[in-house]
Amino acid sequence: MIQNETMQSILARRSYKVFDGRPIEEEALETIVTAGLYAPTGMNRQPWHFTVIRSKEWLDKFGEARRALPLPPGIPKAAAAAFGDPMRNAPVMIIVSAKEGMTSMQDCCLAMENMFIAAASLGIMSGWDHATVMDLFSQDSELKKELIPEGYTVYAAAFFGYPGPNVKDRGERKGTVEYK
Ligand SMILES: Cc1cc2nc3c(=O)[nH]c(=O)nc-3n(C[C@H](O)[C@H](O)[C@H](O)COP(=O)(O)O)c2cc1C
Repeated sequence: MIQNETMQSILARRSYKVFDGRPIEEEALETIVTAGLYAPTGMNRQPWHFTVIRSKEWLDKFGEARRALPLPPGIPKAAAAAFGDPMRNAPVMIIVSAKEGMTSMQDCCLAMENMFIAAASLGIMSGWDHATVMDLFSQDSELKKELIPEGYTVYAAAFFGYPGPNVKDRGERKGTVEYK
């Protein structure tokens, strides 16, 4: 396999459950967001809206709503502590939403992956938060009105930050490739 800086960033990226809380520098954040904006989109529609939550005021507000969500199904309350704070001590949350359309979901997910890899290239890690995608914004709420443009669906949401301790390295990839 060819090893270059891009491949190193792709291989270094890991999903993090906890961040160390350090802020992400302005230029680094701009770099990450720009990587997202340069993802491909169906018919070049660029249908998305990126909501970048980074101020303490908004992190607190978002965190309050996020913490109030029920645990994922199948997780006993007693095990809740193992999950820690659902905000993961992250300094930034990025939510990608779009009007529903033929490729909106794919467009938003590609943007998010570009951001994950750009972040990894800067030593910043990420963590997809599916509860934000599926639950927090699945219904109209004051918070949704404040953060997401009207009529948009949230397709991707993730925390970003400098890595804290990660419990498990999920680096291994199993043989699911077939060359013909
Ligand atoms: C669609 C999707 C949903 C995910 N949801 C969550 C989630 O809600 N919480 C979480 O901690 N990780 C979530 N993940 C991260 C995966 O658990 C992680 O990517 C996988 O275990 C592989 O680990 P790696 O990303 O470190 O390589 C999600 C990933 C994807 C692609």
